[in-house]
Amino acid sequence: MARRFVLLVLFTLFLSFSSNDVGCKRIYREDHMELKRQHKLLNKLVKKTIQARSIFPLYTKYGDTYDCINFYEQPFFNYHSLKNHTHDFPVRYTSNPEGSRDQKSSPLFNPSNFWLNGKGCPDGMVPIKRNTENDLKRAKLATEIHNSKYKPLTIDRPGTHFAVVRTKHTNVYHGASAIISIYGLGVSESQYSSARIKVQNGPDSIEVGWTVNPTLYNDVLTRLYTFTKTANSSCFNTLCNSIIPTSTDIPLGVAIEPNVCVCARFFGTNLFVHQDSSNGNWFLKFGQDEAVIGFWPKNVFTALGDGANYVEWGGEVFSPPGVPSPPMGSGIKLKKDTTYDAYCRQIKTINETDYVVNAVDTEAFADIAQYEVFDVEEYGRADVQHMLLFGGSGGYTGT
Ligand SMILES: *[C@@H]1O[C@H](CO)[C@@H](O)[C@H](O)[C@H]1NC(C)=O
Ligand SMILES: *[C@@H]1O[C@H](CO)[C@@H](O)[C@H](O)[C@H]1NC(C)=O
Ligand SMILES: *[C@@H]1O[C@H](CO)[C@@H](O)[C@H](O)[C@H]1NC(C)=O
Repeated sequence: MARRFVLLVLFTLFLSFSSNDVGCKRIYREDHMELKRQHKLLNKLVKKTIQARSIFPLYTKYGDTYDCINFYEQPFFNYHSLKNHTHDFPVRYTSNPEGSRDQKSSPLFNPSNFWLNGKGCPDGMVPIKRNTENDLKRAKLATEIHNSKYKPLTIDRPGTHFAVVRTKHTNVYHGASAIISIYGLGVSESQYSSARIKVQNGPDSIEVGWTVNPTLYNDVLTRLYTFTKTANSSCFNTLCNSIIPTSTDIPLGVAIEPNVCVCARFFGTNLFVHQDSSNGNWFLKFGQDEAVIGFWPKNVFTALGDGANYVEWGGEVFSPPGVPSPPMGSGIKLKKDTTYDAYCRQIKTINETDYVVNAVDTEAFADIAQYEVFDVEEYGRADVQHMLLFGGSGGYTGT
C-alpha cells in the first residue's frame, strides 16, 4: 500500500505565489553548465540532507538509487525558498470528485516489489532519484525526442505516432482517469513506446502512464512516467520543477515488473489526474487505493490552471528516421480481444462540477496504419465500461 504521508497541500501557499516564482525551470534548452549546476545543486541538497538527518540512500532492485529527502527539502521547495513557510500551513487534499468508481486494479506497485528495503522512505520523506550528469544528459535528449525536435522525419510526421481515443469537443475537464494494461516491449535506442492519459489546454499538457524509453532510463524496463509541458518548459517526471512527488514509497520512474504483466486479462493499473477545484492544483493518483503520488501547483501552468479542454487515452511511439518504428501497446496487430490487446478501460473524465463520468463524445484516431485503435464505446461490464484497445507491431520507417 502506498502510504500517503502528508500532505497536500499548501493551497493557501500556492495561491499566494506569483506565477514567475513557480514557473517551471528550463533546464533542457540550456547548456552543459546548467546540467552541471543542476547536478551540483541536487547533490548538495542530498548531502545536506544526509548530514542533517543521517538519511540512508535507497535502492531499487532494478539498480536505481534514490535518497530519502524531507518532503519540504526537495529541490522544488529549495528553488523557491519555501522551506521556511511550509510547515506553517495545514497541508491537505481539499476536494474529491464525486461519482461511481469501480477501479479494481492490481496491487502491482506494492513497494516490496521494487525497493530492496521493502518499504521505501520513512514517513515525511520522499524518494528523490540520484541523477548522474549522464542521467541528466539522457533526460535532456529524451525531452527533445519527446517534443519531436530530434531528427524530424518530415514536418507533418516528425517520427511520433499515435493510436488514441480523444475528446471531440472543447469542454472543461477537471481531470481524467483510466485503468491501463501494462506490457513489456522491445524498443531500441532513441525510440520510445508509451501508454498514457494526456490532458491538455493550449500550451500546457500533462501525460501520465507507462513507457519503455531507453534514452531516458538507460534500460528497456516498463516504467511509470509523467511528462509535463508548459509554454516555457517540458520534462519527464521531476526533472524540472513541475510535479512535486508526495509518496513515501512510489516514485515516478519506478519500474514495473514486465513479466507480471503480459498475462492476465483485465490486469492493469489505475491512473487518475485531477484538478482540485478549491485550489487549482493538479494531482496524480495511482493504483488500487488511489494514493496521491504527486501534484502540480496551479501556477506551474498558464492554461491548465483553468482546467483542461482536451483529453486523450492510448498509445504513443517515436522512432528516428530509417529505424523501423517500435511496437505499441501489447506489440501485436489488434485482435479486438483483451486477452491479447492493450487496453484502457473505464476511461473517464472529471467534469466541470467535479463528477467522475464515463468519457463521452470521443473519437478514435491513429495517424498511420501500423498502429490501430478500437473505441469500444460501451461495454456492459462495470469493470470495463468505456474501453479502448490499441497497439501494433510497428515497423514503419517513415518513407
Ligand atoms: C514564459 O516565458 C515568457 C517569455 O520569457 C514570459 O513572459 C512568461 O511569463 C513565462 N510564463 C511562465 C508561466 O513562466
Ligand atoms: C523564516 O521564518 C522566521 C519566523 O517566522 C522569520 O523570522 C524569518 O525571516 C524567515 N526566513 C526567511 C528566509 O523567510
Ligand atoms: C457533471 O456530472 C454530473 C453527474 O452526471 C451532472 O449532474 C452535472 O450536471 C455535470 N456537470 C456538468 C458541468 O456537465
